[in-house]
Amino acid sequence: MEDRFILSQEAIQEKVKEIARQIERDYEGKEVVFVGVLKGAFIFLADLVRNIEKVDVLIDFIKVSSYGASTETSGVVRLDFDTTMNLEGRHVILVEDILDTGLTLRYLKELLEKKNPLSLRIAVLLDKFERRKVQIEADYVGFRVPDKFLVGYGLDYAERYRNIPYVMELKE
Ligand code: PRP
Repeated sequence: MEDRFILSQEAIQEKVKEIARQIERDYEGKEVVFVGVLKGAFIFLADLVRNIEKVDVLIDFIKVSSYGASTETSGVVRLDFDTTMNLEGRHVILVEDILDTGLTLRYLKELLEKKNPLSLRIAVLLDKFERRKVQIEADYVGFRVPDKFLVGYGLDYAERYRNIPYVMELKE
């Protein structure tokens, strides 16, 4: 029996709908800018916003990287490109595929707060809570996951496997 960690496509889709319903409850009738953190979040963001009807959805992106082709964070978050919309006075939800050490989201939170949004929250599909190096938590969390190397549903290993429609543990 293989003991590879897997989150099925069905489980992910169900969870994404749950998060969408939570966001609809919190922001019903309001306008929200969803800022997807590239590259990893592009699939989660796309599925999430397609499940939201009761909120006026605007989309923007930001791109940072810290892992490069490595499986270990370099510890330095590099801003590859910034948001393009004016976020001042707007509700913003940062959308991430995975919260790991927390370095990326701490950096992004500080960066976006300087743009004076009306509110700023964080949505992550996966929370690798055991790995946290800095104290940061997401407002919307899909799954708390074990400290295993995960790929699929946006997550890569050396840019591969992002297209797999589920999440699986990569073993060498
Ligand atoms: C991954 C992931 C998060 C970050 C989380 O991005 O998408 O942005 O790492 O890790 P942390 O909590 O330890 O900072 P990566 O740098 O691999 O870039 P990518 O999204 O383009 O794959």
